[in-house]
Amino acid sequence: MGASAYLADQWFVACTAGTLGRTPLAVTVQETPLVLFRDATGRPAAFLDRCPHRNVPLSAGRVAGGLLECAYHGWRFDGGGACRVVPALDDESDRKARRATTYATAERDGFVWVYSTPDAAPVREPYRFPAVDDRYATIRRDVLLPGPLRHALENALDVPHTAFLHGGLFRTAGRRNEIEVIVRRRADGVEAEYVGEPRPTGIVGRLLAPGGGIVEHYDRFLMPSIAQVEYRLGEGSHLLNTSAMTPISAFETRVWAVIQLRLPIPAGLVAPLVTPLAMRILRQDAAILGRQSEAIRRFGGEKFTSTEIDVLGPHIWKLLAAAAGAGDSLAPFEHRLTMRV
Ligand code: FES
Ligand SMILES: [Fe+2]
Repeated sequence: MGASAYLADQWFVACTAGTLGRTPLAVTVQETPLVLFRDATGRPAAFLDRCPHRNVPLSAGRVAGGLLECAYHGWRFDGGGACRVVPALDDESDRKARRATTYATAERDGFVWVYSTPDAAPVREPYRFPAVDDRYATIRRDVLLPGPLRHALENALDVPHTAFLHGGLFRTAGRRNEIEVIVRRRADGVEAEYVGEPRPTGIVGRLLAPGGGIVEHYDRFLMPSIAQVEYRLGEGSHLLNTSAMTPISAFETRVWAVIQLRLPIPAGLVAPLVTPLAMRILRQDAAILGRQSEAIRRFGGEKFTSTEIDVLGPHIWKLLAAAAGAGDSLAPFEHRLTMRV
């Protein structure tokens, strides 16, 4: 897979389960063109999108009888990558060279995941989204963010920008509540716990807790691609916003957002109220990440200055660098700081 931050042996969301039907689907993950299809058993299969014969994209072909058929000479591949049919050829030898390059897949929680190392047995399971009961509304949306994975992850878990970029929607600038933040980093992720945070003052906060109060708030990063924001207020309100991020290319990340939300109103009313707000927030984030990427490209690289309230970004980058083999492996870490929200 491609240059910038190639992560081996990791799972990424390729598409929603519903998107993968009877036609081959082309998807790019870490700059690698893949083709996905459902084999004879209905299981998702993923290959490098290059026919081993003459390198035509297999996504230009079709699925016939559960086999992926190349559009050029009609070679047919089963879900395991074996070439089952070479039209007009009787010779069964040299089958190995005719194999498609395969990537392990997993279908769960309504997504099809692909493993980032080709022709390899996975060494871990894909992420599991939290299980919730029917008092929760679930909203799923995906958006292409014009920025690298590491910046998209920071953005999803960054508190200080919310009062500014999303002013009025989530937080209001100028509030001066001092709250404590506890940062805990493990080998596979980092979490920030916000202690004693008053309910956010914007529209989203008022929906979550009409009567105000103190919220439980966690922001979590789980290697290599999960960003999760959790808010809880008593028994009545609970927000879990889990984003599975797929690195497409150096400056493109697709976010698969799953918002699970329980409010003190009927679950059926939640999605119509919250979806437009969530999409507005996502579009604002996408726009600012685009401007950030433009500037980084124009100046030929990043030159960042961080403060203590850039709570998770630097940890996320260290964890990703360590996984990409570009940094030291990291010891567990705990740190407390004060932030005004
Ligand atoms: S290029 Fe695919 S069958 Fe020839
Ligand atoms: Fe944001």
